[in-house]
Amino acid sequence: MKLEISAAVFVGIFTTVAAGFAPAAIAAQEAVAAQESGPQEITGTPRIAASASAEMPDEVRPATVSQSRTVWACDKRKMVIVEGASPDKKMSPERAQIAAAVLMDLMRFCNEEITARIAIDQKITVAANGHVYENYVVGGPLPIVPASFGQPSKREKMIWKAELDKLIAEGDRLFHNDELSSNGVACAMCHPHASNTHPETYPKFQTQLKKVALLRDMVNWCIINPLEGDALPEDDPRMKAIEAYILSQRAGKTLESGKH
Ligand code: HEC
Repeated sequence: MKLEISAAVFVGIFTTVAAGFAPAAIAAQEAVAAQESGPQEITGTPRIAASASAEMPDEVRPATVSQSRTVWACDKRKMVIVEGASPDKKMSPERAQIAAAVLMDLMRFCNEEITARIAIDQKITVAANGHVYENYVVGGPLPIVPASFGQPSKREKMIWKAELDKLIAEGDRLFHNDELSSNGVACAMCHPHASNTHPETYPKFQTQLKKVALLRDMVNWCIINPLEGDALPEDDPRMKAIEAYILSQRAGKTLESGKH
C-alpha cells in the first residue's frame, strides 16, 4: 500500500516536469520511470497529454485557457495576454503578429494602462480604466477616449527635461575635464562645443576602426587614443552622458563643409 502511494506521487511529479522537456529527454525519463514504478503506472492520460503538448505547435495543441503568455508594449503600460500560448515557448509568427498588432493599436491610447486578452477563438477583450470592452477589433474605433488623450502634463514635461538636462550636464563635465584620461588631455581641447564630432553621420565606416562604427565606438576610440584612457562599456552611464552631450550640441545642425 505504501509503495503504491509513493509510485503515484512519483508519476505526478514526473508528468509535471516532462511537460517542459524535449521528446528524447521524455523517453529517457520514461525508461527510468518504468523501471522504478512499473509500466502500467505511467501509461495514464496525463503523461500522454504532457508529451503531446511538448511536440505540437501552439495551434493544434489541446490548449487550456489556464496557459497563457503575456506580451508588453514598449511603454510597459499596455499588455496583451495571449490565451493558449505557452509561457515558455515562442509563439508562432502568426500569433506573435496578432499580439504585436493589438499592442501597437493600443499605443493610440498613449499613456493609459490597458490590458488586452486574445482568446483561443481570437476574440479580443480590452480592459482600461476599470471598464471591459468585448469584441475589440484591431484598427477599429477606440472604445474609450481618455481625458488627457495621452498628452503629457506640464509637470511631466518639466521632469523629463530636467532628467535630460542632468545627463547632458554630466556629459559636458566629462567632455571638459581629464577624468577619462591618463595624460591630462580632454575631449574639449580638440572638439570645442563638440565640434567635428558629426554624430548625425553615424553609423558609418571608419577607416581607423576598419568597420562600421556607431558614435560610441568613436568616443571610445578617442578615449583610448588621444586620452590614453580605458574604453567605456557601451552601457556605461558616462558613455550615455557623453553621447547625450555631443548630440545636444549638434542637434539640428546641417552638414556643411568648412563648418563645425
Ligand atoms: C587630440 C585631439 C583629440 C581629442 C583630445 C579627442 N579627439 Fe575626437 N577626434 C579627433 C580627431 C582628429 C578626429 C577625426 C578622426 C577621423 O574622423 O578620422 C576625432 C574624431 C572624433 C569623433 C568622430 C568624428 C566624425 O567626424 O565622425 C568623435 C565622435 C570624437 N572624436 C569624440 C571624442 C571624444 C568624446 C573625446 C574625448 C573622450 C575626443 N574625441 C577626444 C581628435 C581628438
